[in-house]
Amino acid sequence: MTSPLDARLGESLEQFRRDGVYKTLNYLEGPQAARACMEGRGEVIILSSNNYLGLSTEPEVVQAGHEGLDRFGAGTASVRFICGTFTIHRDLERALAKLVGTAASLSFASCWNANEALPATLLGEQDIVLSDALNHASIIDALRLAKAITKCSGVVFEHNNLSDLDTKLTAAKDRRVKMVITDGVFSMEGAIADLPGLLEICRKHQAVLVVDDSHATGVLGDTGRGTAEHHGVFGEIDIITSTLGKALGGAAGGFVAGSAELCDYLTQRSRPQLFSNALPCSVAAGALAAVEFLQAHPERVRTLRENTRYFRGRLTELGFKPMAGETPIIPVVIGDTAAAIRMSQLLLEEGVFVTGFGYPVVPRGAARVRCQISAAHTRDDLDESLAAFRKVGVKLGLI
Ligand SMILES: Cc1ncc(COP(=O)(O)O)c(C=O)c1O
Repeated sequence: MTSPLDARLGESLEQFRRDGVYKTLNYLEGPQAARACMEGRGEVIILSSNNYLGLSTEPEVVQAGHEGLDRFGAGTASVRFICGTFTIHRDLERALAKLVGTAASLSFASCWNANEALPATLLGEQDIVLSDALNHASIIDALRLAKAITKCSGVVFEHNNLSDLDTKLTAAKDRRVKMVITDGVFSMEGAIADLPGLLEICRKHQAVLVVDDSHATGVLGDTGRGTAEHHGVFGEIDIITSTLGKALGGAAGGFVAGSAELCDYLTQRSRPQLFSNALPCSVAAGALAAVEFLQAHPERVRTLRENTRYFRGRLTELGFKPMAGETPIIPVVIGDTAAAIRMSQLLLEEGVFVTGFGYPVVPRGAARVRCQISAAHTRDDLDESLAAFRKVGVKLGLI
């Protein structure tokens, strides 16, 4: 018998289908490379992945994962402070801190966890968090959690609007800690946060700047060290959070990077550290190998940048109007959610896997297909994708 809850969920799911916003999961039968084998469809070009440097299939990274598994076993079987800490965690954390320019770092099972850990552990009733309006869902939820747990205040400032932030920080001048949080690269737009401007305002108000660099680590800056390197302020950001699930091998995991005191305090007190298993050692070993690979191969970052420039330029020549930017996130706004999903379905029929995003992930009326370029894409991959965009664009009357 269907429970009342399942009946209600079933009705909502039917409505999603009628509205054309139901998300279908596509299964890959092998590794997620520039081209992958999709169940029931065969080879497709992946143009929708965070595998920016192509490290998810890099032999050195995969091999390190195998070795981590052989050396440390299948899992940590515990939270960090009981018996779930391994030397590979320490090695990884040292490498990550060095990569992003901080004194220390602390790994988490995901960047979602890392973000959740931060304000809810560090702040109290006298404190305030100021968050960019377009920040990632994990930051939004982290603030909701922090407000509920610590009774800190939370304020949203307009996207990338320094004068709005300045006004809101002035209004918060009596708060003990003022924490400003921003994405380094905004995942749905590909926009880059103005870190020099944010640093100036934060210094003026003695506020702490936190940057979630998930889409920038391994991607931005000449050597892939992130948004701070891109802007020439490497080593100046107070706290950086990032993921291991994108450019750095794409497996899973996240981290907080900052001062030694910060990381120690989070080790002592943050609930995702105290009540959830540590990152599996095989994943930590793969991520460490990804960091080492990045440091040894800065040319991978250059290839990513060249591929991005090429694809963006050709897409524009075809008559599409991708959102302006210089990151490998290239969104093409379609408008209606169902239309964006339809476009991604048609592209998939042409053998190109690009996801359509609609409300509530992006604002109503601004649904989009979001292309993500990888250093692993060959010119053939990009040209075939562009041919598919041309065909689908003409069919839908977009170009
Ligand atoms: C900006 C940002 N922060 C955090 C996350 C969450 O990362 P993870 O998959 O490691 O939880 C994502 C993932 O999409 C992201 O884009």
